[in-house]
Amino acid sequence: MNFKEELELNHVFKVVSSAAAKSGQESYVIGGYVRDLILERPSNDIDFVCVRNGIDLATAVARQLGKDIKPVVFKNFGTAMIDYEDMELEFVGARKESYSRDSRKPIVEDGTLEDDQNRRDFTINAMAISLNQHDYGELIDPFDGMKDLKRKMIRTPLAPEITFSDDPLRMLRAIRFATQLSFDIDADTFSGITDNIDRIDIVSRERITDELNKIILSPIPSYGFKLLFQCGLLKRIFPEMVDLHGVEIIGKKAHKDNFYHTLKVLDNVATVSYDLWLRWAAILHDIAKPATKRFNEKAGWTFHGHEDKGARMVPGIFRKLKLPLNDKMRFVQKLVRLHLRPIALVKEEVTDTAIRRLLFEAGDDVEALMKLCKADITSKDHRRVQRYLNNFARVEEKMVEVEGKDKLRNFQPVIDGEYIMKTFEIPPSRVVGEIKKAVREAILEGEIANTFEEAFPFMVAVGEKLGLVCKKDKV
Ligand code: CTP
Repeated sequence: MNFKEELELNHVFKVVSSAAAKSGQESYVIGGYVRDLILERPSNDIDFVCVRNGIDLATAVARQLGKDIKPVVFKNFGTAMIDYEDMELEFVGARKESYSRDSRKPIVEDGTLEDDQNRRDFTINAMAISLNQHDYGELIDPFDGMKDLKRKMIRTPLAPEITFSDDPLRMLRAIRFATQLSFDIDADTFSGITDNIDRIDIVSRERITDELNKIILSPIPSYGFKLLFQCGLLKRIFPEMVDLHGVEIIGKKAHKDNFYHTLKVLDNVATVSYDLWLRWAAILHDIAKPATKRFNEKAGWTFHGHEDKGARMVPGIFRKLKLPLNDKMRFVQKLVRLHLRPIALVKEEVTDTAIRRLLFEAGDDVEALMKLCKADITSKDHRRVQRYLNNFARVEEKMVEVEGKDKLRNFQPVIDGEYIMKTFEIPPSRVVGEIKKAVREAILEGEIANTFEEAFPFMVAVGEKLGLVCKKDKV
């Protein structure tokens, strides 16, 4: 099979080919770029392998691409990278040792192309296209990666134990590629994972979470989580999620399996949003259900307070998974804490007060919250689902109405602490907080509007009740 025509479309290939020829080196395009070219997935990262010295080749290529272009050299890794137009070109000398970008092992560069292909992770990532004059564009595919691409299969080129012990992260990469591409994992390769799950412990948390996030951002993330669960990796990297698995039955009363429910919610969210953090909120929304589970003869299974406890669990989980401890985490926490609120609203009559409180607490994240709540309806009873969705639509209408009137989404009290202190000529104290809270509550309860005209006399009345004297006129 020849890819000459495809290579014509990007002049970089000719440049690499001629630079390599001039220095008497063989060169090839290899790895993910070749895979994605065949799958017709656009890719701007191109990996080149040459049979001698990748850094020398990168230097020669950079010179030909333009005088301002300089390669970034990673001496320890024996690689060099060129940022060119919107592409990232990476050069490496063929290796006998395992190919892993993050490997701390010394780089042995005296391999042939075949040695190099042997030490790559999967057959579909080990294909190369020649840039050498005599067979320019020819596909070099020793492990029949092409067949695996066609039959949608992830398979290691060597015995799985060898490929996975070279770099245990590859076990996660197998599941990540399967999820991203909707591929199967070859049975031997999958057993190789199951047999080696302990080895994931030597891989850094950052690399693990990086792969996990790629699984989460795939079109149907549940597929990846089911594979992670089946092989045992999930238990090792994210045990809290495994705790959601299973159904307990007492008498005739069973609760739903919260693991599969969570995965359904995650898939639902994935159809409406690509936001990684909303997807994390879906993963974590019921995370405290195992910890709050109780059985009661009358009510059956309950999970009281799982939303608050879940929100409290979020920082610990984020810390362990090396996810950011910043506003993204607070967003996830907020959604976990509030995820029952909209559904509680539709079960009852939708009052303005309840809407006001929700707008106040959710602020600008209210749309994301509504997406999560709609995704949380996983009942198999279509009529019931439709009824809930209709009710949600009513809640949303009402939200627009209330927000238009009261502007609570980014609630800024019309009267702040400073103003209260000036009005009563009092220093900062607990009573200031009390008055502020009373004003806020009155606004949220709809007793007064969120305007100065209504809030001022209300504040004065509250202060006077507390024995304070107003020292200020309204204006
Ligand atoms: N590779 C490997 N083992 C690893 C990491 C990478 O064998 N643990 C090889 C594979 O041949 C892979 C290539 O290095 O195709 C490039 O790695 P990377 O950029 O991480 O992956 P891609 O295949 O390009 O895919 P993606 O960009 O989606 O990560």
